[in-house]
Amino acid sequence: KFPTRVFSGIQPSGGLTLGNYLGALKRFAEKQDEGIETIYCIVDMHAITVWQDPDKLRNATRELAAAYIACGIDPERSILFNQSQVSAHAELAWVFNCVARMGWMGRMTQWKDKTAGKDAEAASLGLFAYPSLMAADILAYKATHVPVGEDQKQHLELTRDIATKFNHDYRVNFFPITEPVIEGAATRVMSLRDGSKKMSKSDPSDASRINLTDDADTIAKKLKRAVTDPAPLPETVEGLEGRAEARNLVNIYAGLSGRAQADVLGEFGGKGFGVFKPALAELAVSVLSPISGEMSRLMQDPAEIDRLLGRGADRADAIAQPILEQVYDIVGM
Ligand code: ADP
Ligand code: NA
Repeated sequence: KFPTRVFSGIQPSGGLTLGNYLGALKRFAEKQDEGIETIYCIVDMHAITVWQDPDKLRNATRELAAAYIACGIDPERSILFNQSQVSAHAELAWVFNCVARMGWMGRMTQWKDKTAGKDAEAASLGLFAYPSLMAADILAYKATHVPVGEDQKQHLELTRDIATKFNHDYRVNFFPITEPVIEGAATRVMSLRDGSKKMSKSDPSDASRINLTDDADTIAKKLKRAVTDPAPLPETVEGLEGRAEARNLVNIYAGLSGRAQADVLGEFGGKGFGVFKPALAELAVSVLSPISGEMSRLMQDPAEIDRLLGRGADRADAIAQPILEQVYDIVGM
């Protein structure tokens, strides 16, 4: 009943990392290349749940668009657009605000984490209702599959709850119950300074991450200084047990090369980091240089990026608007 359609979004909050590439952008491009209908969104309305400098937000939106394209998203084959340009997101989110329950939102671990030790009363109402907007992002397209990171699984669960309650309350089978696209372990990239923390743009240490815009020297330097233990690499994947930093570097190598971890260890098992790190740096530079080069080329023509996003928004709107109109009709409006 519901044709396969993939939706995913990333916030334009500035500064994309190798984690975003291996965990999201690269996989988004692969889905597109499988010939599935893919809709990719720059979710600026989510970004403003915490205050953003307006000029920086505008720039981060274009930079994220450039990153999507540089990572292989073809704006012809995929629909690539900016959330705030398609009004169905906000309109459907309102309907979902009336379907979802306060208690559901209050139980979101990300809400609890983001307000932990702070005055939750001072958080924006938008931050609290964020998962309802996310449900609207997905269901405005009746998306059946969403590639999500570990951190977003609970929010997708809530999208499913909203779809289920809407279908139940209005006695329809209108929204699909969206499935998460399960990712391999190799797509979770950890900090280069601490193997227990995820690589993130919000980590205060720049040495903890590789930014998509880092130059070759910086990439090599950061990988050379990455925290590791002194033992050589194991011969098998089981040997990575309890060695979070070693596992992370092997994961990164596997992700960047498209090889299995076992295969990487087949080549590097028994060798020390003095051999492995330079090989990893060379691989990382060979994959990331063309991406950062393409990003800066695209960023030289912001008007062209805006044109592509405008066209993406028109295509997105053509799908979402009729779905929204049916929702209004179902609800009695
Ligand atoms: P958002 O706030 O938009 O969820 P993030 O910047 O945390 O933003 O992540 C954007 C996308 O990149 C998400 O799909 C997320 O799962 C993925 N991602 C971010 N950091 C990592 C990481 N270290 N490893 C794997 N995937 C990651
Ligand atoms: Na509209």
